[in-house]
Amino acid sequence: MFRKGMFRKMFPRIAPIALLALTTGSLAQKGTPANVTADLPGGAMQAQATTACLECHEARIILQQRLSKAAWTKDVDKMTKWGAVVDPADRDALIDYLSTNFSPDRPAYEPQRTADKNAKTSK
Ligand code: HEC
Repeated sequence: MFRKGMFRKMFPRIAPIALLALTTGSLAQKGTPANVTADLPGGAMQAQATTACLECHEARIILQQRLSKAAWTKDVDKMTKWGAVVDPADRDALIDYLSTNFSPDRPAYEPQRTADKNAKTSK
């Protein structure tokens, strides 16, 4: 009895907050496809790529690329020369992973506008 009454009293206050949370949640999904600190996409090489490739720079530098397999091969070898720790046994699979997820026929990367994001969430 007591609890039910309390719930009814509180509900009108909770409902708008819940609604707001739902709305901002779906806005965030539509407006920001990739975060500044976004993860690399899922897949067999996600863990290896995260370890090898996010040591020196954030994922965004990779997420924004649209490269051919030949170009990814060059890039992976260049990064390895610069110090990326890539197990030789993983090299080919890593190149496949990158050239599948970030090939020229993927839709263009949408850079996140930090100012825009702040405007949406500052309220
Ligand atoms: C030892 C540090 C280091 C590691 C590890 C590393 N990178 Fe880089 N990467 C750099 C630097 C330095 C740049 C160029 C400077 C910049 O733009 O920040 C760069 C730039 C890039 C670029 C931009 C295009 C280019 O070629 O300059 C891509 C794509 C890239 N890295 C992918 C990768 C991938 C994929 C891996 C994992 C296999 C990786 N990086 C691991 C240091 C590293």
